[in-house]
Amino acid sequence: MSEHYHAFTEHLAKINDLNKAASVLHWDQEVNMPKKGAQQRARQLATLSGIAHELSTDPKLGTLLEELIKDDSLDTRQKANVREAKLQYDKQKKYDNNFVRELSKVTSEALEAWQKARNENNFEVFAPILEKVVDLKRKEAEILGYDEHPYDALINQFEPGTTTKDIDQLFADVKAELVDFVRAIAAQPQNSDEFLFQEFNHDEQFTYSLDILKQMGYDFDCGRQDISTHPFTTNFGSEDVRVTTRINEKDIREMIWTTLHEGGHALYELGLNPDDYGLASGEYLSLGIHESQSRLWENNVGRERSYWEANYESLQQAFPVQLGHISLDRFYAGINLVKPSLIRTGADEVTYHFHVMIRFEIEKALLEGSLEVRDLRNVWNNKYNEYLGIDVPDDINGVLQDVHWAHGGFGYFPTYSIGSFYAAQFYNTAQQQIPQLEQQLAQGDCSQLLTWLRENIHQHGRVYSPAELCTRVTGEPLNFAHFMNYARKKFSALYQLEPSAV
Ligand code: CO
Repeated sequence: MSEHYHAFTEHLAKINDLNKAASVLHWDQEVNMPKKGAQQRARQLATLSGIAHELSTDPKLGTLLEELIKDDSLDTRQKANVREAKLQYDKQKKYDNNFVRELSKVTSEALEAWQKARNENNFEVFAPILEKVVDLKRKEAEILGYDEHPYDALINQFEPGTTTKDIDQLFADVKAELVDFVRAIAAQPQNSDEFLFQEFNHDEQFTYSLDILKQMGYDFDCGRQDISTHPFTTNFGSEDVRVTTRINEKDIREMIWTTLHEGGHALYELGLNPDDYGLASGEYLSLGIHESQSRLWENNVGRERSYWEANYESLQQAFPVQLGHISLDRFYAGINLVKPSLIRTGADEVTYHFHVMIRFEIEKALLEGSLEVRDLRNVWNNKYNEYLGIDVPDDINGVLQDVHWAHGGFGYFPTYSIGSFYAAQFYNTAQQQIPQLEQQLAQGDCSQLLTWLRENIHQHGRVYSPAELCTRVTGEPLNFAHFMNYARKKFSALYQLEPSAV
């Protein structure tokens, strides 16, 4: 290894030390910290991120990168690490301190205002500060630069290489195919899922969730599970990846599919190469690819009949009074209801994408200036009516439901749908390449699927672009047809739809 490359990896590892130390503090804040710890914790986090920012804009790093970018002796992985670090370095250099301070000040005010607006169930309380956030996001798009649409600059931070045009096309496909499909389903006799909303003991649920993780192949020597209000996955390196779940004693769905979802995220990070600590090749590729791993376990595996052939008996044993008399058929139909609803996070795997599409259309319009924040509530409510056929009763169940905009997270939402579509495409290839997959899952054996994901997706970190990785794995870039085929096959059977009616 050249001296320069070695110095470069040392520098990046040091930045990562600071970021991971911040992650530990964040994790503690969500899982353990007493209420009064908040103020000084915020200080500690700000100090760490300040030092990390200094190191990542250090001119010494810039000089190293200039040398390394010309170094032909590097291998593919090393070249990718230099390329990605250079992109990050150049990006960090574009932000001046005033802008960073202003954005952090405005978003922390916005977070408070969003909380207050939710308490009062009134969007007007949030609107004035949201206007400031949108202004800053427009500025940020100019700072970062873009070819066609200001929104491109923001998406690119989360899903490199994806443009507004790509997502326009994706949601044009969603509209063209999913709207009619959901209508056809709604016209059929509906299944019941009321048995999922009985009393389910907290501790019994927690124990069951640990079994779910073990079966997936999650290694408790490299992680742990705790409880938090908003479930998440965090890593302090690829050998300490922690998850949280949420338990609702009146709705067992939350524990089951949150655990599968976060477990999928965690397996991805556990599959990254620990030797590439702090380097792009040891980090996740994009939010869309990350979400593809969580959605694949949550939906393609965890809402599949074969998975429950292996696991329903143990769930019935854990909750004999609640589920003992419910057949596997009824259970399977109940966990796969397709029903338009108000809240994105509780949506089924088909109508979910309308929720994302609505947010994308709104973000794009705000960024380009064709929509004003003061008209946001009306536009939101109209779109829910148009795409999902439901009336929004109030702001908490409408425009105030997600925290993303208060955080300044514009450009993030589309990665949720992109992730589900990648998941369907990857899973389709996995099924072809592992002929026994269904039988294995039906016996509770997830090991070959995990090996396949490790080899094809996890180990590559950020060496390839999302489109390159997807092409290597499936033979083509992201293609919505795979999700549609999966959804048609599964839900036509569940709702007894004739092929011609679909
Ligand atoms: Co996720």
